[in-house]
Amino acid sequence: MKEPVHLEGALVRIERFEERDLSERYLGWLNDPETMRFSNQRFRDHDLASCRHYFDTFADSENDFLSVRRRGGGDAIGTMTVYHNQHHGTADVGIMIGDRSCWGRGFGQDAWDTVLSWLLGPRGTRKVTAGTVASNRGMVRLMERSGMTLEGVRRGQELIDGTPEDIVLYGKFAR
Ligand SMILES: CC(C)(COP(=O)(O)OP(=O)(O)OC[C@H]1O[C@@H](n2cnc3c(N)ncnc32)[C@H](O)[C@@H]1OP(=O)(O)O)[C@@H](O)C(=O)NCCC(=O)NCCS
Repeated sequence: MKEPVHLEGALVRIERFEERDLSERYLGWLNDPETMRFSNQRFRDHDLASCRHYFDTFADSENDFLSVRRRGGGDAIGTMTVYHNQHHGTADVGIMIGDRSCWGRGFGQDAWDTVLSWLLGPRGTRKVTAGTVASNRGMVRLMERSGMTLEGVRRGQELIDGTPEDIVLYGKFAR
């Protein structure tokens, strides 16, 4: 059994993604082409069985699957993933604010900053990494605002609407 996660930002609350979060609402986010525009998840068909399978992969791993909720007991609005490498003291982080009515209102930034502070602080992670397609301006902005710096570019790595795009790789050290 993994230890609980309860993190509070200014706008969001972060907890472990639980079985009860495997909902039609969550499925709707994964099957929304606009939300998945920059994610390789767009190439997959998602149903509750495939979501459960993905959820189960976290149970016996060192990785964290997190739910992003509005502060004050609100609904889930997104998810985050943290892939730890204990040997190297690193963690690769991803985020999806699935509820599009929440976009551009600071929820993503708050969730990101809250999880990075936890990882690089009490969780004891040495270095946090993340990456995205360069044209995902919201994600790039969010990483840069959190103090991450550009570490590398994979030129023309992925096709977005048939056009080759760079993948930008960011990192931040605890100190
Ligand atoms: C990327 C994502 C997490 C941003 O979350 P959000 O809650 O909309 O972001 P915030 O409101 O906290 O904004 C953070 C910064 O990004 C900017 N931003 C957000 N969306 C943007 C967009 N579409 N274009 C340009 N800038 C954008 C904001 O303006 C803000 O910067 P600012 O304060 O300088 O203005 C969210 O859009 C999302 O989950 N998208 C789908 C999944 C995804 O692409 N995840 C990343 C895959 S690697």
